[in-house]
Amino acid sequence: KRAFRNRLDSTRGKSLLGGGIDRIDKQHARGSLTARERLELLYDPGSFREIDMYVTHRCQDFGMSSSDSMVIPGDGVIVGHGNVGGRRVYSFAQDFTVYGGSLGEAHARKIGKVMDMARGVGAPVIGLNDSGGARIQEGTDSLAGYADIFQRNVDASGVIPQISVIMGPCAGGAVYSPAMTDFIFMVDRTSYMFVTGPEVVKTVTNETVTKEGLGGASVHAGGTSGVAHGSYANDVAAMRAMRTLLGYLPSSNDPSTLPVRPANDDPNRDVPSLDLLVPDDPNMPYDMKDIIREVLDRDSMFEIQPEHAKNIVTGFGRMDGRTVGVVGNNPMVLAGCLDIGASEKAARFVRFCDCFNIPILTFVDVPGFLPGTAQEHGGIIRHGAKLLFAFAEATVPKITVISRKAYGGAYDVMSSKHLRGDANYAWPGAEIAVMGAKGAVEIIFRGRDVEKNTAEYTSRFANPMVAAQRGYIDDIIEPRDTRRVICDDLRLLRTKKVGFIPRKHSNIPL
Ligand code: COA
Repeated sequence: KRAFRNRLDSTRGKSLLGGGIDRIDKQHARGSLTARERLELLYDPGSFREIDMYVTHRCQDFGMSSSDSMVIPGDGVIVGHGNVGGRRVYSFAQDFTVYGGSLGEAHARKIGKVMDMARGVGAPVIGLNDSGGARIQEGTDSLAGYADIFQRNVDASGVIPQISVIMGPCAGGAVYSPAMTDFIFMVDRTSYMFVTGPEVVKTVTNETVTKEGLGGASVHAGGTSGVAHGSYANDVAAMRAMRTLLGYLPSSNDPSTLPVRPANDDPNRDVPSLDLLVPDDPNMPYDMKDIIREVLDRDSMFEIQPEHAKNIVTGFGRMDGRTVGVVGNNPMVLAGCLDIGASEKAARFVRFCDCFNIPILTFVDVPGFLPGTAQEHGGIIRHGAKLLFAFAEATVPKITVISRKAYGGAYDVMSSKHLRGDANYAWPGAEIAVMGAKGAVEIIFRGRDVEKNTAEYTSRFANPMVAAQRGYIDDIIEPRDTRRVICDDLRLLRTKKVGFIPRKHSNIPL
């Protein structure tokens, strides 16, 4: 018995030390924390409970069994569960100090196990990725391990929130598990993601590129690829942000798990500043984020993809202490036009909210789709259809406010009444029309009586009255009343019920 206890202590010690002091020092020297340090920051103090710390690899090839030092209990990934803000969350954290955090059979099985547990009890999974990819010594067992995880990602999709944080290398097949989770976050300069690395790129396409230039946070979260949903200056900031994000998310798709905070703000608060935020000149930009911030509960905005497709804003906020998803055209960028990037960004966000019973607030100021060959040849028809489909398919409470322009097909797309918006409002300065007066008069009057016809068109359509007369908007509200009205609607819509026609699943354009 005593001998076993000694062995247990020594195995535990070995597991806790991972790849050893030298490799831990190396990890710190590159500006990163170890897997265990990251978990300590993520979880409420002392709440993390590790499982499977004694698991070892079975591979006997390439010297993997040649000495005791080759067998590291835990096999390069720390898995378990604990509390974040008092709510249960499962995690796996790859330990780069053990075989470069590479994924072999046992390592993959551990990840699969926590994913199964999380799905079973209905709690989010957060993966901290820091890995040299498939463990080369384990060959096909590593590939099998990845595919087992991919399948679990898909099975858990829409059941529990899945979050990936890329905190070191993530290359080759390893990228596809994060790619199937709901959100990917990165750490500036110490993380990268690519399907093939710079050496292979050089051989195949003769391009010379650094890891950062190929797949760093500046590429994926910085607005180029749209792969990631945000990035943070370092590991500490990333873990803090994940705690904040988890505070907005439900534990699962069971609506009773949506978080409710004691309200820090009056739901009936009058917001006079909103009366002044939209400029009188319809061509003057303003920042839709200012409107969103004023309407939401104080200090409650967690933006998703803040640097990508900035012509649309997406993020989580709270109204009267409860989570809402916010989508808003931003006239500050491309005049708020919808384009390929904005459509994809918002469509994915809307679908996340719908999966997890999060009501959607949509703020509209959209002059239309962005014209041009780049957009048409890039497939704006297909990509724009994603946003239209996502809004139409969503059955969560949908509340829409048109702050200024709502033109053309883009008006229809932006959670209009016709897509079963539950409450659709316009501010008095809104314009709901097929297009702006100048373009309309040019087309229908071909340059005749421009002044008179523009005046007539403007008086008819440069306001929300026609839409209100048809019931396409439910009311014209004063900007200052917006928060109060939406809080009241959200309270009413908590009991919203929608029937489903049976089908296997819809066929969203991809
Ligand atoms: N399989 C097994 N061991 C791996 C590994 C892998 N895929 N990736 C890294 N390691 C090991 C290294 O052998 C090294 O071991 P050591 O500490 O005993 O010397 C340790 O992890 C750290 O790797 P190192 O190369 O020293 O770190 P680095 O920061 O200089 O480079 C990578 C990191 C990921 C760029 C580099 O290790 C790499 O290119 N790995 C292979 C990536 C790959 O092709 N994976 C398979 C495709 S999915």
